[in-house]
Amino acid sequence: MISPLRYPGAKRQLVPVIEGLIAANIPPPRLLVEPFCGGATTTLRLLGAGVAEHGILADVDPLVAAFWKTAAFDSAWLLSAMRELKITVEEWDNWRAATPRSRRDRALKCLFLNRTTFSGILHGRAGPIGGRAQASQYKIDCRFGLDGLTRRINGVAELAATGRLLDVWQADWRTTLRRVSERFSSLAGDEVLIYLDPPYVDKALWLYEWSFQSREHSALASVLLEDMPYRWLLSYDDHAAVRDLYCGRSGQVTLHVSHRYTAAGSEKRTVKDELLVTNLPTIPSSDRYRVLDLQSTTNQAVLD
Ligand SMILES: C[S@@+](CC[C@H](N)C(=O)[O-])C[C@H]1O[C@@H](n2cnc3c(N)ncnc32)[C@H](O)[C@@H]1O
Repeated sequence: MISPLRYPGAKRQLVPVIEGLIAANIPPPRLLVEPFCGGATTTLRLLGAGVAEHGILADVDPLVAAFWKTAAFDSAWLLSAMRELKITVEEWDNWRAATPRSRRDRALKCLFLNRTTFSGILHGRAGPIGGRAQASQYKIDCRFGLDGLTRRINGVAELAATGRLLDVWQADWRTTLRRVSERFSSLAGDEVLIYLDPPYVDKALWLYEWSFQSREHSALASVLLEDMPYRWLLSYDDHAAVRDLYCGRSGQVTLHVSHRYTAAGSEKRTVKDELLVTNLPTIPSSDRYRVLDLQSTTNQAVLD
């Protein structure tokens, strides 16, 4: 399962690590909820691999939520509307200025801008791929391959048609958590896993329309550490503010994950440092991460 959206902050390289952590814990999740879904890479892959039985995607951004709802439950319309799009700088200006009223048009705006804007950024200052003059070798349509997008959107629709992707909500994370407890009260706490990938601490204002202020990061930490009936797993870029919020607090384990990768257009190997914080009871040993902080009082972490 590959996401049809290119998303700033997508945690592709973390997915195998997350999969290993979930698979080490019993029972496996019956419901996986992603309240900051963005490009939804993690949920799509975990549902595709059968690591969780069912999933729900949610995001506060109306464009993002409309895209997932339409890809999942109205894909025939989306695929046919996508084929009618003209991928030009003039159309890019029109979509940028548009304020679509219907869910379908918001979905199309999301798809168009995500696939034609620098780094997939939907809002703010980022311009079209290839620049306004289109003088670069990469033109505005270079990420708009219809066959690949069709396959990916069909993949999302298939997850929905088979009952694995249950729903998509346009909601703030607090509303998402409240709805889960209202609508899935028959599930036990250990049958639900909430995977959270909130906006970056540093760069969120530039990347997302709905970004977090520091008090939101601490409000989220309070809910997760003090008031959470479910299993949860949180990913962040490694940042001192995040370590301050979680390390040393009971009920969590913090893992440090480093990836080596070569950035596009560069020869240099770069290291990206990320944190995974979780209340999962079992943490298997792995060379993919280092345990920073083991403060779990309710959980028994298993470490070799
Ligand atoms: C780091 S991105 C998620 C990236 C995603 N995990 C992926 O793989 O593509 C953060 C997302 O959180 C959303 N967001 C920001 N504030 C939010 C809030 N208060 N409630 C829910 N979603 C929010 C943004 O719209 C953005 O899509």
